[in-house]
Order: sequence, then structure tokens, then C-alpha cells
Amino acid sequence: MSAEIKNLKNIQNTNYGLEKLFSEAEDFLPLLGTDYVELYVGNAKQSAHFYKTAFGFQSEAYAGLETGLKDRVSYVLKQDKIRLVLTTPLGEHGPINDHINKHGDGVKVIALWVEDARSAWEETTKRGAVSFMEPYTESDENGEIVRSGIHTYGDTVHIFVERKNYKGLFLPGYRKWESHYNPEPMGLKFIDHMVGNVGWGEMKDWCEFYGKVMGFAQIISFTDDDISTEFTALMSKVMSNGNGRIKFPINEPAKGKKKSQIEEYIDFYKGPGVQHSEVATDNIVETVSAMRDRGVEFLYVPETYYDDLLERVGEIDEDVEILKKHVILIDRDEEGYLLQLFTKPVVDRPTMFFEIIQRKGAQSFGVGNFKALFEAIEREQGNRGTL
Ligand code: FE2
Repeated sequence: MSAEIKNLKNIQNTNYGLEKLFSEAEDFLPLLGTDYVELYVGNAKQSAHFYKTAFGFQSEAYAGLETGLKDRVSYVLKQDKIRLVLTTPLGEHGPINDHINKHGDGVKVIALWVEDARSAWEETTKRGAVSFMEPYTESDENGEIVRSGIHTYGDTVHIFVERKNYKGLFLPGYRKWESHYNPEPMGLKFIDHMVGNVGWGEMKDWCEFYGKVMGFAQIISFTDDDISTEFTALMSKVMSNGNGRIKFPINEPAKGKKKSQIEEYIDFYKGPGVQHSEVATDNIVETVSAMRDRGVEFLYVPETYYDDLLERVGEIDEDVEILKKHVILIDRDEEGYLLQLFTKPVVDRPTMFFEIIQRKGAQSFGVGNFKALFEAIEREQGNRGTL
């Protein structure tokens, strides 16, 4: 049993209300990790500058007019294991234009790294997935890549990437992106999980999709009792693949006195989509302070959050005053603790944001911080007039 599976199995022993045993996860779809996340954006050149400056991503690869593309440009940014692709159309009509027009800047593709993209497509489509892209081989002097894809919630898709016969930087058609502007990385390591927001009553169906079509198992379920403040509520279930490398929490709105943050997202994104990408760091204090210095806006919680912190989470390695200064939140489970923080939305619509996390043993999701975080989101909703 891998360490990851063991950790995930332990989560079952905590009282998160698990409904499905992890051993039910089937491995007809072995996933090696997240390959890349592609955003459709209005201006990839400027977005790339933002993600380099504010998040510490590095210039990696480029495709556009100079490489023979006629209809779009894509910038590939990298930081440790995270690959971000930013794509903008060059024409006035087309599916990328439609996506941006409807959703604003947002995540189109969560690409998953597989051994065999053909089998991934066959196994998922035969279980009911709608095909987005039949298996397709692209090659250049560095070898070949096979990709295939399926639809998931909203207009979001999963692309399976098989790169075992490829030695190039990213994909055929891309060239190295040389830039004289290379801000320091911020210590972001890998994607811990990516969260999808779906509409009223749709969470169950999408969890079933990940269970049935992709062989994922539900590892945690939060009801609106777990995730509610005085005014707003949401529900969430966390789906994980067999080796625990890919985790997709799925949220839906729940009834409260005021509008759920998930409903606000759906209103502005015009349907389901990726709410946040959670990225891991080994030193959240350094990462968050560097990001703040470069202009990233984070949610804030009242200072009273820190008053009973040590009683709540016990001994921690960090100095509480420093955590308080950077407004970093802490939660503990049976295996250890975690430190986390949400950014404010990184786009103009109140839709997509990032979460920074440092895990010190804990494999859970910070349930002890939900109330503080969601009250912080409510304050932002209040400022926007959308509560
Ligand atoms: Fe998260």
C-alpha cells in the first residue's frame, strides 16, 4: 500500500462522514499527476506577466504566430511541478472566444498525466464520459505525445496526456520561451487539489461521474452543517483517484439567510467551473509574504482568530505572531496540521482564486478554518453587493 493511500485511508477514521470506502477506487484509469492547467484568457501576454510577477511562475514555452499558429497564442509557465497554460484567441469568433465571452478568464482544461491516453479515453468514454477529443498523436523532433479528452462539469474538460515517448519541453508545436524577465519563484510546488463549483443539487451527479467514469472514490463529505456561517452555506464532497495524487472537491450552494458564495460564483461564471486551484508550498510564510509583496491580495480574518489558536491546534513550529502578521490560518487533524490561505479572486469577476497550503502531516482540508474563511468571503461578497 502506498503512503498516500495509507494516509487517505486514515482520513476515513476521522469523523468526516465518509460514505464510500476508499478501497472501492478502481484503477482502470491510472493517473500519474496533474499535467497542466489551461486557462482561456482575454490577453495571454499580460496574464503571463501577472503570473510570473505575482506568483513566481517561470517562462517555459510559447506557441503563436511565430510558431505557425494562426488562430491563437499560448504561453506555458512553470513552477516546480505546476504547469500553467494561458491561451488567447486571435480572431473574433470561435470556441475560445465563446468561452471567454461567457465565463471571463477561467480554467478550460485540467490535464491529467497518464501512461496511456488511448486507454484513458476508451475506459472513460465506455463508462459514459462525453468525448472532447479522440486520441490524437502529435510529433516533432523530440518524439510524440498522445492526447485525448473528455468533458466534465460546465465547459471544463479533462485532457489525458501521454508523454512517455516525448523529450521536448511541453508539446509539439511549442518552442522554448526565452525571456529576459525572470522573477524569482515563490516556492509553489505542485497542485494539491482543484475545486469545482456546480449548480444546485448537482454535486451528487458530478461525484457519481468521478466515481463511475473515472474510478475515483469519495474520501470526505461536508454537509451544510459543517460549512455554514450565520448567513451562508455550501456543501462539498472530495473525490480522489486511487493513488491520491488527484483530488477534486466538488461544491454546490446550500440555502442560508443570504446568497451562497457558490451561487455567486455560478452567477458570474455563468455555470459550473473551477473555483480554486490549491497549490502546495514548503514554506507558507515565505511564499505568502513574497506574493503579498508582489501584489497578490489575500482574504483576511479578524485578529481574534488567533486568540485561542494554540488551544485549538496545539503545538506548532511557527511563531503565532508571524502567522498573524501574514493572516495565515492553521488547522489540525489526527495526522498533523496544515497552514492555508485563500487569495481574493484573481480575475475581475468574483470567480477563480488560488489557495496556498503547507501540509505538516495533515491530509484533510482545514474544516476548522471553514467558518473563518467563509466569513471572510462573505465580507467580500458584502462589498460587491452580492451577498
Ligand atoms: Fe482548497
